[in-house]
Amino acid sequence: MKTIQYLTETAEETKKIARDLAMTLKGGEVILATGPLGAGKTAFCQGLGKALGVEGIINSPTFNLIKVYKGKTKTLYHVDCYRLENADEEKKDLGLDEVFGDPDTISYVEWPMYGNNYLLDYHPVIKVDFTYLDEDKRKIVITDERQ
Ligand SMILES: Nc1ncnc2c1ncn2[C@@H]1O[C@H](COP(=O)(O)OP(=O)(O)O)[C@@H](O)[C@H]1O
Ligand SMILES: [Mg+2]
Repeated sequence: MKTIQYLTETAEETKKIARDLAMTLKGGEVILATGPLGAGKTAFCQGLGKALGVEGIINSPTFNLIKVYKGKTKTLYHVDCYRLENADEEKKDLGLDEVFGDPDTISYVEWPMYGNNYLLDYHPVIKVDFTYLDEDKRKIVITDERQ
């Protein structure tokens, strides 16, 4: 397990960190993004998408729960469990067992703590935790269970 901490001062810098992480992805990885609203979780996913060759605009999947984007060689699953906080286990089941680990996919999950037990017990994952320091400053801690 490897942990790296970053400080960013712009959304672009946050996206750059995501692009660097994307370079290490082989397919099948699960990335769990935590931190308060507005901390930059979706901005990070935009950086990932760019590196994966996604052409459309990546925005928050809060109301859809999952958005699927075709990249150059991989499909990006952008999941947001925010609205599942008080849902029962059946409703929390988004069928992610069909996706996680599939080498043609990269999964990025916001608010994973509200996900179902399958998601909560899944390993290895790459955790990305965001702390809001001020309007433009964020602390980003990446804990990578792959190594
Ligand atoms: N250093 C930074 N990193 C990421 N986002 C930043 C940063 N500074 C300002 N922002 C802004 O903060 C907001 C983050 O929103 P978003 O990525 O949707 O957050 P979340 O998905 O965590 O709720 C965006 O408007 C972004 O432009
Ligand atoms: Mg978001």
